[in-house]
Amino acid sequence: MKTSEGLTSQVSVADFTAVMGSFPAGVTVVTGLGNDGLPRGLTSTACCAVSLDPPMVLVCVDKTSTTLLALKEGAGFVVNYLREGAEDVARLFATKSDAKFADLTWSIGSSGAPVLGDHVCAVAEVRTRQVIEAGDHWVFIGDVIGAWADPDLQPLAYLRGQFRHLVAA
Ligand SMILES: Cc1cc2nc3c(=O)[nH]c(=O)nc-3n(C[C@H](O)[C@H](O)[C@H](O)COP(=O)(O)O)c2cc1C
Repeated sequence: MKTSEGLTSQVSVADFTAVMGSFPAGVTVVTGLGNDGLPRGLTSTACCAVSLDPPMVLVCVDKTSTTLLALKEGAGFVVNYLREGAEDVARLFATKSDAKFADLTWSIGSSGAPVLGDHVCAVAEVRTRQVIEAGDHWVFIGDVIGAWADPDLQPLAYLRGQFRHLVAA
């Protein structure tokens, strides 16, 4: 197939998404606060650890995301790791609605970005260090400056286009 850079890729979009979809992911809501002071966020599975010492994570955000400006303007972002049962929150933050936060409890954390008060099993508050353009996404890499996890809550998972609940092997 022809890529947006005018090059030829040996891999079709269908094959690429089939492979990526075969890797189970936790489901997060990545949030930011821009200069307009309004909370923004999107559902994201493209989040992972980068470094242990210092603790760093990355998130990948599509260039068409309405959350992008807030992430670029703000000094940091929050990775809100959704818990089992939060499928509706995941679906809501996968829309372009202006009112994603209307019925949710949230507060501004140490990164300056919104922390969800419910529906989460863990939270990472991140100060942005690097923003890198990569294909049709921007990659935000940052230092984890706050971390919270409840080991009694199960995470929401995503695999092959479906939300999943985890069971022990
Ligand atoms: C399970 C799931 C995972 C997703 N992961 C990402 C992701 O990692 N990065 C991304 O840019 N969009 C991802 N999306 C798509 C965005 O959530 C979706 O485009 C959303 O409408 C963006 O909202 P915004 O434009 O208001 O920021 C995902 C959607 C779903 C349902």
